[in-house]
Amino acid sequence: MSPETCELSLLEIYHAMRNKISKQFFEEAKTVLVGGVNSPVRSFNGVGADPLVMKYGKGSQLFDYDGNAYTDYCLSWGSLIFGHAHRNVVLAAKNTVQKGSSFGTTTRQEIDIAKFIVENVPSIEQIRFVNSGTEATMSALRLARGFTKRSLVIKFDGCYHGHVDDLLTTAGSGVATLKESSSLGIPQGHIDNTISLPYNDSALAAATIEKYKNQIAAVILEPVAGNMGVIPADPGFLKILRELTSKHQIVLIFDEIMTGFRAGLGGAQSECGIIPDLTCLGKIIGGGFPVGAYGGRKDIMQCLAPLGGVYQAGTFSGNPVVMRSGLATLQLMNKDVYRTLNERCRQFVERLNQHYKEKQLPVHLSVYHSMMSVRFSDHPVKNYTDAKKAAGGDRYRKLFWHLIDQGIYWPPADLEAFFVSAMHTKKDLLRLEEALKGFAW
Ligand SMILES: Cc1ncc(COP(=O)(O)O)c(C=O)c1O
Repeated sequence: MSPETCELSLLEIYHAMRNKISKQFFEEAKTVLVGGVNSPVRSFNGVGADPLVMKYGKGSQLFDYDGNAYTDYCLSWGSLIFGHAHRNVVLAAKNTVQKGSSFGTTTRQEIDIAKFIVENVPSIEQIRFVNSGTEATMSALRLARGFTKRSLVIKFDGCYHGHVDDLLTTAGSGVATLKESSSLGIPQGHIDNTISLPYNDSALAAATIEKYKNQIAAVILEPVAGNMGVIPADPGFLKILRELTSKHQIVLIFDEIMTGFRAGLGGAQSECGIIPDLTCLGKIIGGGFPVGAYGGRKDIMQCLAPLGGVYQAGTFSGNPVVMRSGLATLQLMNKDVYRTLNERCRQFVERLNQHYKEKQLPVHLSVYHSMMSVRFSDHPVKNYTDAKKAAGGDRYRKLFWHLIDQGIYWPPADLEAFFVSAMHTKKDLLRLEEALKGFAW
């Protein structure tokens, strides 16, 4: 039975049959895990069906419990730049864990990966490892506040920095007035301390910084937004943020948790030439294990305990298994690997966008090297308002299942980016291209 020729209800039956074990497991999961998941986006709410329960991965491939294989373009939300279970990473983890999994002391593994990152990421003179991206941004904010002795934080609508109280705030409309949080449970004080502005709006950012300059501790942003689809910041926008934060001794924080080591060893900052005061990292640097890190100017970093008065600690921070697996991943990434991966992605995007143009379809891919998103619009997307307008809604749901039917695993939410790893072959990308061309836009 070909799924394309079926009515939706038949298609649903087809999916239910094909994903029978996933469904059983998910029903069981719901009895003990909230909503059956440990992170909301995994629930498939955005694509209107029960999630697939995955069993194992190898290279670019992911396998569910029903025995279905998928080429994976979610890659643990951008963490796996070398795909699943790369031999070097598995060996690094195995060799480390058999000598003990955690000591709660300084280890050689932390020093080695710290040196690698300090050598490669322009803004980072010293670094502190934590256990998640959320912990990194939360701690970087505290550090910025401790350093500047100020409270306000500027962020940008549609940028996601983890589930930090202060950073779940978005602007209702315009500046500082009508602010609201994206979550219940955030005390008013946190909401009041955050100003959320439209991404890429240099004039508004400049006016706001000038207005509140003596109260602002930090400006935080993704230099390439990856959580409202992919939107690279305009060079002029980054330049003005750098100029004004320097002028008013405000800490500029780049959240490179998604972009760090994605397109090159130096992160997005080395490409745009704007060097922030602090940088947050995560995802790729853990080699597929839980991780986060923040680092930057030595004078700011040294305000952290034990040297300074800003307290931040962690039982598992800098865990040796994570550090060794992360370093094994980073050591696989050299200039040639990045060149091949980035060029492969560039050609893929060019071919598809050309196709959409020729067919006059209101769709395009927006891209930052091997990080991409589908836009259901032929207009460029510059900020969160544009991103919401270019979202597919029910068409995204249909696209998701169309791809699943072709053995392609894709982020189960409209505004998420999809990723290509160094293990994806030209053939994998050609298959994706055909599948995307074959969708009834
Ligand atoms: C840019 C960015 N910052 C922060 C985070 C939060 O990281 P974590 O999920 O590890 O807490 C994410 C997660 O997707 C992210 O994309």
